[in-house]
Amino acid sequence: MNVLIIGGGGRENAIADAIARSKRNPTLFAVMAKKNPGIAALCEDFLLVKETDVEKVVGYAKEKGIEMVFIGPEAPLAVGLADAFEDAGIGAVGPRKDVARIEFDKAWARNFMKDNDIEGCPAFKVFSDKEGLQEYIEELGSVAIKPAGLTGGKGVKVMGDQLPDTGAAYDYAVSLLEGDNVVVEENLVGEEFTVQAFVDGKNLAFTPCVQDHKRAFENDLGPNTGGMGSYSDSDGLLPFVTIDDLYRAREIMKATITALGATETPFKGMLYGQFILTKNGPKVIEFNARFGDPEAMNVLPLLKTDMIDVMAAVVKGTLDELDVEFLKRATVCKYAVPAGYPDEPSKDKEVVVGDIGDALLFYSSVYEKDGKVYTTGSRAVAVVGVASSITDAEKIAQNALENITGDLHFRRDIGTPELVQRRVTHMEQIRG
Ligand code: GLY
Repeated sequence: MNVLIIGGGGRENAIADAIARSKRNPTLFAVMAKKNPGIAALCEDFLLVKETDVEKVVGYAKEKGIEMVFIGPEAPLAVGLADAFEDAGIGAVGPRKDVARIEFDKAWARNFMKDNDIEGCPAFKVFSDKEGLQEYIEELGSVAIKPAGLTGGKGVKVMGDQLPDTGAAYDYAVSLLEGDNVVVEENLVGEEFTVQAFVDGKNLAFTPCVQDHKRAFENDLGPNTGGMGSYSDSDGLLPFVTIDDLYRAREIMKATITALGATETPFKGMLYGQFILTKNGPKVIEFNARFGDPEAMNVLPLLKTDMIDVMAAVVKGTLDELDVEFLKRATVCKYAVPAGYPDEPSKDKEVVVGDIGDALLFYSSVYEKDGKVYTTGSRAVAVVGVASSITDAEKIAQNALENITGDLHFRRDIGTPELVQRRVTHMEQIRG
């Protein structure tokens, strides 16, 4: 079977790796903007083109006799790539534009939750102009300000963090209004965690929970990034997430898929729930319509069920007939990013991967030229440690990072016992 992967990041390298492990002997093809050496090495052939160029991408798929496709990033979903594949008779893991909207239109997503009485929705209002904006920010007191459209996770600002006071929140919201609608919502206090699920239109197959780390520097300092690294635990929970918290988060995701199922377009692909665990339980920060990056790199190496079977079940709507299972192992994923990332990243610098021991390696925003690998300015390579505990997985990942050289930066603290304990203590304080 010929299978196509769309996208050239670390997430897509992990997806490609899971497909390549299949016992169904798929032949893998890829479409990516730049040559990711990790993905290229797994493929029979690849096309270097913008993933949002629907005509070229679908044309390539037809030419190569592709039967199933996995769409990794959000941008092609937002331009209707899944629609174009389905309309061409090619099964897509990745939702059609009508329902992928849950990610690329944050205003629509919040209104959808509210209209369908889905739990975990914070107080919010959507603004298209300044009318009532100041009053609502003052009413909530502490707010998060979100542009409605896609920003690669970097457009959200919250008070007490990037916004010192309500005046700064107002000014930021006004600056966003020039290009987009703005969502103003209550600023929730707690610990964030990610729950991801394969979805076939009605059934969800959940992956283990993950905690990502958005800030560029250790101790959660510095600017927000796409995610510097993440960990997961062997029991599928996290040290600060109880089974009850997880079930509540899953119920929210199931209710969302049920409500989407009442629309004309079934959601087929990945649903990513970004939750914050508050003293009143899990609340939704946002939904995404794809795997997380780095979170995909935590869970996909643990997938025991054949990835081609999972993809086929998503496409056919038969996930309820398949046990989607994961190894009971802990993982720590750490990204090496260009020095200066995200604000002033160094670019076009060589990355040399030495002996990474037992760690897994996933290439991300790099390109290959004359057999050498160079940075582009975004997250470069990720390593993943897999072990029986988070502590041991962290050591494997950190040792690997020490043997990757270049003009690079990484966070040592992700997955260390000190950091994990801080999360647990924080959550204990919040729960009272
Ligand atoms: N790691 C955050 C995201 O993929 O949206």
